This record gives sequence, C-alpha cells and structure tokens, in this order.
Amino acid sequence: MISPTFKIIPYARRYRRALLDLANDGRCKLHLHLDWHVLEDWITHPNVPIFLAWQERDLLGVIAGSIPQANTAWLRMVALKDEIQPPTVLAPLWESLRRYYREAAVNEIGVLLTTPWISEHLGILGFAFQEHIVTLNRDRFEPPPAPRIEINIRHSDFREADKALVIDNAAFGPMWQMNAQAIRQAVRDSSSFTFAELDQRPVGYQITSQIGRTAHLSRLAVLPGLQGKGIGGALLSEMIGDFLRRGVMLFSVNTQETNLQSRRLYEHYGFEQGSPNMPYWSVRIS
Ligand SMILES: CC(C)(COP(=O)(O)OP(=O)(O)OC[C@H]1O[C@@H](n2cnc3c(N)ncnc32)[C@H](O)[C@@H]1OP(=O)(O)O)[C@@H](O)C(=O)NCCC(=O)NCCS
Repeated sequence: MISPTFKIIPYARRYRRALLDLANDGRCKLHLHLDWHVLEDWITHPNVPIFLAWQERDLLGVIAGSIPQANTAWLRMVALKDEIQPPTVLAPLWESLRRYYREAAVNEIGVLLTTPWISEHLGILGFAFQEHIVTLNRDRFEPPPAPRIEINIRHSDFREADKALVIDNAAFGPMWQMNAQAIRQAVRDSSSFTFAELDQRPVGYQITSQIGRTAHLSRLAVLPGLQGKGIGGALLSEMIGDFLRRGVMLFSVNTQETNLQSRRLYEHYGFEQGSPNMPYWSVRIS
C-alpha cells in the first residue's frame, strides 16, 4: 500500500542500481524512448534531467527527459512500480521535470508513445496527440531510380558529425533537431554516413544503420535553400545502391505523417507505408 508520504529528488550516481532494477523489472509500468542510446549509458550523462520518487528505501517511480534543444525537450522515460496508481506518483514527478524545463526556458515537450498504457495519464498532464510517426519500408532488389541531379556524394565518419549537425539544425524544426551528443552516437552506430557536396561544401547528409538484415535510414537532411533540387534523392539513391551491393535489400525509415516532401521522396525511391504508426504527443509549458 502506497501512502502519499514520498519525496521527489534529482537522480544521483548512488541511485543507479535502484533505477536500473526498477526499469528492468518486467512488472513495472515503463515508457522508454532513448533513440540511439541504451539506458545504462544514457543515465550517466550529467545534463540529463532525471527525478526519482522515493518512499523511505523504496523507489516508486522515475521520470526523465532529454537535454533541451532549441527550447524543446523530449519525455524519454517514465518507470512506475507496478502496484502504485500512476497519477499518485506520476503527477509530482512530472511537476519536478516541468519546473526544471521551465527554468531552462523550454517551451514545448514532446513524447513518442512507445506503449499504450501511458496515453491516458499523459492526457491528464496536459499532453495532446499531434500526429503519427509513420514507418515506410522498401523490400525489393531492383536498383533505385537514378537521381535527378549529379552531385558529389562522399562517405564520412564521426569526426565530421558536427558538419552534419549544422545541416540538421538548419533543416529540422526545433522539436526534431538532434543535439551534438545524439548525432555523434547515431554516426557511431551507423553503417553508412554520407555527405552531398556542392563546391566541396556539405549541403546534405544521411545516416543509415544496419539492424540485422535491414538498413534503417535514421537521418536525412538537406540545407533549406537547396531542398527540392534532387539532393535528398541523390543521397538516398547512393545509399540504397550501396546496401543492395552488400546484399542488404530490406530498408526502413520513419517520418512524420505530415512531412509530405520526405514521404514523396521515399515513395519515389520505392518505399511503401508499413505499420505500426507511433503517436507523437506534446505539451506547451511556457
Ligand atoms: C526531406 C528532404 C531530406 C528531401 O531532400 P530534397 O533534396 O528536398 O529532396 P529531393 O529534391 O531529392 O526530392 C524531393 C522532391 O522531389 C521528388 N523527387 C525526388 N526524386 C525525383 C525524381 N527522380 N523524379 C521526380 N521527382 C522526384 C520527390 O518526390 C519530392 O517531391 P516534391 O519536391 O515535388 O514535393 C529535405 O526536404 C529536408 O531536409 N527536409 C527537412 C528534414 C527532413 O524532414 N528530413 C526527413 C525526415 S525523415
């Protein structure tokens, strides 16, 4: 039986074992969306906001978000002990995280719903559904259509992740931008990282990782002033051709339902909509 006498405190290294035990306990109510990171490494980063609800020596719940980027942030983790009523502990945990983000000048917090149990509780906290993230797949051996333009595509590695970050932050809206840490991790985990160059200047990039027998396009972006000219298509065409030559013929990519330019591009290069779709919710806190 949980009494309301618990306290909320920020995460510290000495709570690592308790946090991991709660998250790994199969009975706990868990929402986890860490993109390219694994929980054990992610919690070691000093600037990640994490709050814990303790009742004496009992860890009742955890809430954690991303490092703010362009006045936005993501709700990355909620873990609640199985026998508690979620609102009892989730509401004060959320209040601590929200206060932290307000002080950090964050005005919008997003969440990708990786599990259905959390939706009713997020609604109570003020989050609302915005759109779906759709998955598109390509599973044919035929080569991709030729790109519309000829442009130099070159392979790169993590030492140039910062050049990709500049393109990424210019191309994506605040909520969808990557930070330096995330882009470096994505590049390290990737099997293909290429730039499109005009006059030796990087103007677009893509990152693809191979998961089993599937090549997952995790990032594609072109500088805003140069979009619509075939640069994204050239990056995509080169990447697909490269994986087909390595014997990989399954491809996947996620994009926003409303991102029509990217969907048209992927469909043109042979991707078809798959399922399931993941709901994207957000809340404004300013
Ligand atoms: C999505 C993005 C990477 C596409 O790059 P791009 O250089 O603009 O893409 P392209 O010019 O090659 O292709 C885009 C368009 O050309 C079309 N197209 C591409 N190749 C084509 C071809 N060979 N023949 C005819 N049409 C073609 C696409 O269907 C699309 O149609 P539209 O512009 O008429 O709407 C770019 O718009 C971007 O950076 N957007 C912001 C970041 C983003 O959303 N990234 C993807 C998230 S998953």
